Amino acid sequence: MKRTHNATGLEVKDVGVQVVLNGWVDSRRDHGGLIFIDLRDRSGLIQVVFSPEVNQDAFHLAEQVRSEYVVAVQGKVSLRPADTENPNLKTGKIEIYVQKMEIMNTAKTPPFYIEDGIDVDENLRLKYRYLDLRRGEMRENLMLRHRVVKTMRDFLDSRGFLEIETPMLTKSSPEGARDYLVPSRVHHGEFFALPQSPQIFKQLLMVAGMEKYFQVARCFRDEDLRADRQPEFTQLDIEMSFIDEEDIMGLMEEMMALIFKVGINRDINIPFPRLSYDEAMKKYGSDAPDLRFGLEIVDLTEIMAQSQFQVFSSAIQAGGVVRAINAKGCASFKRREIDQLGQLAIDYGAKGMAWIVVSEKELKSPITKFLKAQEIEEIMSALDAQPGDLILFAADKQEIVSRVLGFLRMELARRLDLIDKDELNFMWIYDFPLFEYDQEEGRYVAVHHMFTSPRLSDLDRLDNNPEGIKARAYDLVLNGTEIGGGSIRIHQREWQEKVFSLLGMSFEEVRDKFGYMLDAFEYGTPPHGGIAFGIDRLAMIMGGRSSIRDVIAFPKTQSASCPLTNAPSAVSNKQLRELAIKIREK
Ligand code: AMO
Ligand code: AMP
Repeated sequence: MKRTHNATGLEVKDVGVQVVLNGWVDSRRDHGGLIFIDLRDRSGLIQVVFSPEVNQDAFHLAEQVRSEYVVAVQGKVSLRPADTENPNLKTGKIEIYVQKMEIMNTAKTPPFYIEDGIDVDENLRLKYRYLDLRRGEMRENLMLRHRVVKTMRDFLDSRGFLEIETPMLTKSSPEGARDYLVPSRVHHGEFFALPQSPQIFKQLLMVAGMEKYFQVARCFRDEDLRADRQPEFTQLDIEMSFIDEEDIMGLMEEMMALIFKVGINRDINIPFPRLSYDEAMKKYGSDAPDLRFGLEIVDLTEIMAQSQFQVFSSAIQAGGVVRAINAKGCASFKRREIDQLGQLAIDYGAKGMAWIVVSEKELKSPITKFLKAQEIEEIMSALDAQPGDLILFAADKQEIVSRVLGFLRMELARRLDLIDKDELNFMWIYDFPLFEYDQEEGRYVAVHHMFTSPRLSDLDRLDNNPEGIKARAYDLVLNGTEIGGGSIRIHQREWQEKVFSLLGMSFEEVRDKFGYMLDAFEYGTPPHGGIAFGIDRLAMIMGGRSSIRDVIAFPKTQSASCPLTNAPSAVSNKQLRELAIKIREK
């Protein structure tokens, strides 16, 4: 019995039509004289009814079916009696009276309920992912992702982009994470690296004259995993020639507006606001700030520069800053709660967290006794403090203060429930530094990646004054998550060599790792730039999920393994011998 319709393709106007449906038994309710089955297919659910008066055989067969059996039913679409309509179902006004049924396959009892909102250990869901994906919300996630990717492809195609694939077995491409390596059988002791991104290849495609490239590209990064990070993830990767920042940002805004309309029927305002990296760090303590709420960080360094309060003034004398957040209306926090925030601040690297509780009559604080009346007044005014507020301070090096107050800002927003889950807050962050100094490694590292062009006015500083050079890089941030990032690239061999050497690479190392790219730059390389979006992150936010695993069909766990296949796993000695690899005892 082959299907004539999808479950949710039927409506009231089809009443009287003979149909065949194929699908899974979502649930079965035996009401003695009548049996009801919710039949599920990819489109959703419809109720089918078995009555001995309609067909004896079908009724008896229906007595035997269990959840997740695969069945075919044939019958007539009928209106449900008015008081039995189900407003929660798209097909809630109709049902099928079954005249014939066939059991296409049986099923064991699933290890968890196939329904939305289940509270089940994620490892179990991942082990039986094919059952987890039968759940409506998971199916919706994959359908959303499909619409998003299709819209990206259609949009870019309509703008003259070519989709071009680049290798998976390649040479290490430096995006700052550890590589996944693949041993070569043919060349003993040599390894391919899985790409962390197609960065170098897409630049070579610009040298090759492709002008507008894109790819839905799988990327591999061996890094510490979080809710928005997977070892294997998908980028929409884009590169263009003969363009500047404005071209890319403008085009991507148009694409985002289309994706959100087609994906989740939301109208978003473009162009997106822009915020410089320095301002983002200063006001929000993050280069991917969430602006769905306020709680701005306020700089008090000038006010506190001459203060008698050693904790603040000595931090400033050491080149640091004093900044604070006004937690509006939080004067009611219990002492225990404030101490808990202080401990969190210390966990994030602060030496302490001074505070002032502002009430109608007085200020409660461990530090006001060290401050002059005028200093207190200036602090109150800078933070616009009113009775009922709580002020939290951090004094230290700028990076530490940003990190600590940026964290406290998010923590307060969570505790006070300040975030409107429906809001979509897009923002470009620009004017990133080109380099930052890595204390541990004792050298500069690239903030975006090493192929990013410095701002043209800073080019001559590459020789002797790299501190503070700005990059021609831009990130797109949505609700406090970096969903994309890119840059205008260096396209001259000479400048690229300078950057490599500033990053501490020897001539030999550069030749060995990037010689092929530098060589290419000598054959007429057009000016170019691009961007890449994290498709998983984008789909996660669009689908209102809190983990990117929910929008990936077969994701890895937090510990980078797959409970379904048990990968990674040991391999046979024969395979190891062929690769000339010996596993050392731990
Ligand atoms: P970048 O490293 O910023 O840039 O990556 C681009 C986007 O990819 C997403 N992303 C991730 N998503 C899930 N799991 C991960 N582990 C992960 N890492 C990154 C983020 C990020 O914004 N080659 C450059 C792009 C360019 O310059 O054109 C690059 O890869 O959303
Ligand atoms: P102390 O005099 O060291 O007890 O510090 C007085 C107050 O200042 C306490 O509430 C500390 O938590 C706080 N404090 C100490 N160091 C810092 C710092 N670097 N930034 C902000 N507050 C601090």
